Amino acid sequence: MEATLPVLDAKTAALKRRSIRRYRKDPVPEGLLREILEAALRAPSAWNLQPWRVVVVRDPALKKALREAAFGQAQVEEAPVVLVLYADLEDALAHLDEVIHPGVQGEKREAQKAAIQRAFAAMTPEERARWAAGQSYILLGYLLLLLEAHGLGSVPMLGFDPERVKELLGFPKHVAIPALLPLGYPAEEGYPSHRLPMDRVVSWR
Ligand SMILES: Cc1cc2nc3c(=O)[nH]c(=O)nc-3n(C[C@H](O)[C@H](O)[C@H](O)COP(=O)(O)O)c2cc1C
Repeated sequence: MEATLPVLDAKTAALKRRSIRRYRKDPVPEGLLREILEAALRAPSAWNLQPWRVVVVRDPALKKALREAAFGQAQVEEAPVVLVLYADLEDALAHLDEVIHPGVQGEKREAQKAAIQRAFAAMTPEERARWAAGQSYILLGYLLLLLEAHGLGSVPMLGFDPERVKELLGFPKHVAIPALLPLGYPAEEGYPSHRLPMDRVVSWR
């Protein structure tokens, strides 16, 4: 792993982060991206299912096509890297042995697998996709902070045609696409953060 530390601590990164939509041309080292992804993939998920999947897009032609799918939003083509974050619950459920803790063995393991399958059997395909997308936003949050901590700017995006993105990337129909995440070294400061005051959103009992 490439050591590109020091990095910002979590609180500093959270206070400093803004959406960045313009990037320098400098490429983002693959080693650094791997380091960030490795840490982000520590994100927790219900039953540890980790239904998220990520495509790292650097190919200019593919970025151009993704920009068109994102209603022409320039940052998708101009960013040196676009992460396509998608969620594939069917894949996760078909490989439960990958995610159930190795410490859980025998009957207990089988019971856990059956309980998970049962929980999802009652859901419609749309509900399953939404559930998996919800889990994947936890990974997105980790990524946003880790990118900021390593000096990279990014902007999470939902403004795209998911069916077109699935087509471009050859994804099966059932997957959800919680976000596109263009990223790169910032060429702008972004807008100053504007947030609700804590008392508007937090109550104490
Ligand atoms: C799920 C999600 C989807 C978003 N979609 C877009 C988008 O399609 N295009 C865009 O320019 N910004 C998009 N944004 C960025 C938001 O506008 C931005 O995060 C918000 O205004 C707060 O600003 P900040 O990120 O600079 O703090 C999205 C953000 C999130 C979290």
